[in-house]
Amino acid sequence: MNKEEIVQEIEELKLKKNALILAHYYVDGDLQDVADFVGDSYALAKKAVASNKDRIVFCGVKFMGESAKLLNPDKRVFLVEKNAFCPMADMIHGSDIEEYKKQYEDLYVVTYINSTAETKAHSDVCVTSSNAVKIVKKIQAKNILLCPDKNLGYFIKSRLEDSLSEKNIIIHDGYCPVHEEFSKEVLEKAKKDHPNALVLIHPESNPSCYPLADYIGSTSGILKTARESDCQEFIIGTERGILYQLQKDSPDKKFYFTDLKQTCEDMKKLTLEKLRDCLRDDLNEVFLDEETMEKASVPLKRMLELAE
Ligand code: 13P
Ligand code: SF4
Repeated sequence: MNKEEIVQEIEELKLKKNALILAHYYVDGDLQDVADFVGDSYALAKKAVASNKDRIVFCGVKFMGESAKLLNPDKRVFLVEKNAFCPMADMIHGSDIEEYKKQYEDLYVVTYINSTAETKAHSDVCVTSSNAVKIVKKIQAKNILLCPDKNLGYFIKSRLEDSLSEKNIIIHDGYCPVHEEFSKEVLEKAKKDHPNALVLIHPESNPSCYPLADYIGSTSGILKTARESDCQEFIIGTERGILYQLQKDSPDKKFYFTDLKQTCEDMKKLTLEKLRDCLRDDLNEVFLDEETMEKASVPLKRMLELAE
């Protein structure tokens, strides 16, 4: 079966099953093309809630499908690939959060959406890279835990300005293996090769990159900055899958990556064939136990409220 035939089959199955297909910018371009909506983690969570379809099929890693299920308990949610995980999501567990709580009595737990449902169930609020600073600024508590990503944690802390003196920010030491590799040295080399390019990086990047960055933000923020800028060249400090949308938005602009691989292997496990099989055979449905559903949905719903 060729690509066009598989796409045709997906379109038919999508209608038959009344499914909404959501995709993250890091998955293969073919998947982005058949999706009903492509976005960053925050936009995808909002789309999942706004949908009136019977089922949601997620082209992304496990925490994204789990989050869609937590926000839509009455809908069936499916993952295109059940073995696509975000390694950072497993760098903290509920038991670690409970240990932190023993150390700080009034601890307010801010958990990146890149986390398991089990971890979310121990958290006060979830954030994504596009709403984290806004949400943390609204928190009244003195002791605030930012987890699991240390780099997003440092980024949030660097943007808190005045309110920082009243807050004690505790940062867990998880990280994204893809973004952690971006360092000052790597970006300096890229800047030397492309001196006229603007540097756009994701906040999961190592903080040593901040001084060299012209923009730090979510995948959607990087896309918006590249689209709206008068500059014609950009060094991109995030996963390579974003190139598909960058080129779609601005076909005449030039986008460079660094000498690093910049590839999220888990996102690359997804294929058109797997999406077709998932739709056709109802594969990889997301199930969460009742207690986790109840507890883990609270911080996600709070995120949607506070990000408004
Ligand atoms: P965004 O929310 O910015 O799309 O980031 C998700 C992610 O996994 C980044 O590595
Ligand atoms: Fe997780 Fe990093 Fe992949 Fe994003 S790029 S899904 S943070 S491993």
